[in-house]
Amino acid sequence: MDTILELKNVTKRFSGLVAVDNLSICQERGTIHSLVGPNGSGKSTSISMINGMLPLTEGEIFFNGDKISGLPVHEIAQRGVGRTFQNIKVFGTMSVLENVMVGGHALNKKSGGIIKYLVNIGGTNREEKLIREKAMEALEFVGIQDLKDMQVKNLAYGRQKMTELARALVNKPQLLLLDEPAAGLNPSERAELTDMLIKIHESGVSLFLVEHNMDIVMNISDIITVINFGAKIAEGTPDVVKNDNEVIRAYLGSKYKKAE
Ligand SMILES: Nc1ncnc2c1ncn2[C@@H]1O[C@H](COP(=O)(O)OP(=O)(O)O)[C@@H](O)[C@H]1O
Ligand SMILES: [Mg+2]
Repeated sequence: MDTILELKNVTKRFSGLVAVDNLSICQERGTIHSLVGPNGSGKSTSISMINGMLPLTEGEIFFNGDKISGLPVHEIAQRGVGRTFQNIKVFGTMSVLENVMVGGHALNKKSGGIIKYLVNIGGTNREEKLIREKAMEALEFVGIQDLKDMQVKNLAYGRQKMTELARALVNKPQLLLLDEPAAGLNPSERAELTDMLIKIHESGVSLFLVEHNMDIVMNISDIITVINFGAKIAEGTPDVVKNDNEVIRAYLGSKYKKAE
């Protein structure tokens, strides 16, 4: 198997609480691999350990065969790991284009990262121009280039989410970590998001998806890992997972179970 992402016996403790419990996951390149489980089961914590925002208590994480746990966030991003957040992180008073450009600067330690960028916004140097071009490309990819000059706070929530998605795509990640991208979206926005995830995947990006909406998860995932209290309770294709008795008991209920 051509592995893009591997979590090896990863544990995260917050003082007394075990948020992630000896979790091992192997994701094959080119797949949509979903991580699901009840609220508080350690999904967001797992994503934050993968992209370097949270240190591991125990275990190791590998990307393309190289150990990335312990590396700083910008270096993990540079290697090709992008992410979006459960609680959308956009700058409301900035334009759509500026928000997406922040993604281009986030990797660049030399340019001083996000903070310095926010001070220098609107600069005219060569690097700025390149980042602007990459940001426009990402906006065109997600189909909101016409909104580029709008202030983000004036957009519908679904459009704000697309802005965040475009920002995560600016650096052309090989692996995109998505933390509940469908949360808060109405049905038509959800359908649009699902199409967009498929389009991103078809462009060659592997997706690591945390999502509560099981219709989306069951429809687009190649493999699903189910966790409860931070520990893996099941893993497999959607058909295997939705008929697993422990998954039904701990999380899914029998809604998705095949009729006997
Ligand atoms: N920074 C933190 N400090 C202390 N406890 C935390 C922190 N972040 C998350 N937790 C706890 O860790 C557990 C897992 O949280 P989280 O990963 O956010 O779950 P999920 O994303 O699956 O809903 C929860 O019990 C949560 O309260
Ligand atoms: Mg979460």
